[in-house]
Amino acid sequence: MAFDAKKFIPQAVEDIRKAVGKERCIIAVSGGVDSMVAATLAAKAIPSQLVAVFVDNGFMRKNEAQQVKEAAGKVGIPIRIANESERFIKKLEGVSDPEEKRKIIGEQFIRVFEEIAKKEKVKVLIQGTIAPDWIESGGGGRQTIKSHHNVGGLPEDMELKLCEPLRELYKHEVRMLGKELGLPAYIFERQPFPGPGLAVRIVGEISREKLEIVKGACFIVEEELDRASAEKKMERPWQYFAAVLPSKTVGVAGDERIYKYTVIVRAVRSLDGMTANFSEIPYEVLSTISTRITNEIMGVGRVVYDITNKPPSTIEME
Ligand code: XMP
Repeated sequence: MAFDAKKFIPQAVEDIRKAVGKERCIIAVSGGVDSMVAATLAAKAIPSQLVAVFVDNGFMRKNEAQQVKEAAGKVGIPIRIANESERFIKKLEGVSDPEEKRKIIGEQFIRVFEEIAKKEKVKVLIQGTIAPDWIESGGGGRQTIKSHHNVGGLPEDMELKLCEPLRELYKHEVRMLGKELGLPAYIFERQPFPGPGLAVRIVGEISREKLEIVKGACFIVEEELDRASAEKKMERPWQYFAAVLPSKTVGVAGDERIYKYTVIVRAVRSLDGMTANFSEIPYEVLSTISTRITNEIMGVGRVVYDITNKPPSTIEME
């Protein structure tokens, strides 16, 4: 049966009220469509019991913290920013295994929530978890593909009770809800962004240099593909970003040998993120992206375009 956003809203509001009773709740708003829709539903259901925070884990995109605060303010959700970048970056030092990285990030998120919860006397954590998050994390008897930070990354000794109003929904349904709830289009049409952020776009071990590279490269990919789609040169991909590989390759600048990092450009078409096809980007657009990345980002000597579908790859690198 087709998803009916109009019917879903009053039911979800009712369910949230029932699940949390009189308890105060915390919701972590990432600025993405899932957490924003969950926060809007929670703000409808229990406005006076809600504490909304944006945790800056240091792996957010350029200017993201400020943009999220403004966007949430526009839909009437007052959020506070918790700058925890140093804590996350330190915990990830020397870690290269993707699952370990995800679990560390998941756990640190919860520790931050718990600290705020203690101060604010909050007992419930509201999350914008959607169906693919728990399915890929090994829910429903399935094998774990990757531990989405908000599911498989949750510590076992978590003290907060969980409330997940979007648990059964897929991304396109969440977007329908966002529209129905009156969120601005730039929020409900926003491309997905993983909870662990740019940490899973730095393949292997994280360093501050690689973090700066991936931040700059993601910004350029988003800017160029937004422009190319607005100019109707191509269909706007479902998701588009850059990632940095762990090893360097040899290149040449003028007469000199260079030895720098490789950036992967990724852009896919998808409906729900469960399967995806790589986007057909015109060569002229790829060429601009490549030139800009190698000219504007010091540490990059090579740019490649990822032409794998999901399956067999996943959308993100880790
Ligand atoms: P993959 O990489 O598994 O991703 O093909 C499917 C979609 O989910 C996003 N993604 C995440 N979202 N927490 C999230 O909230 C996560 O840990 C996470 N990992 C991947 C990914 O960006 C894509 O849209």
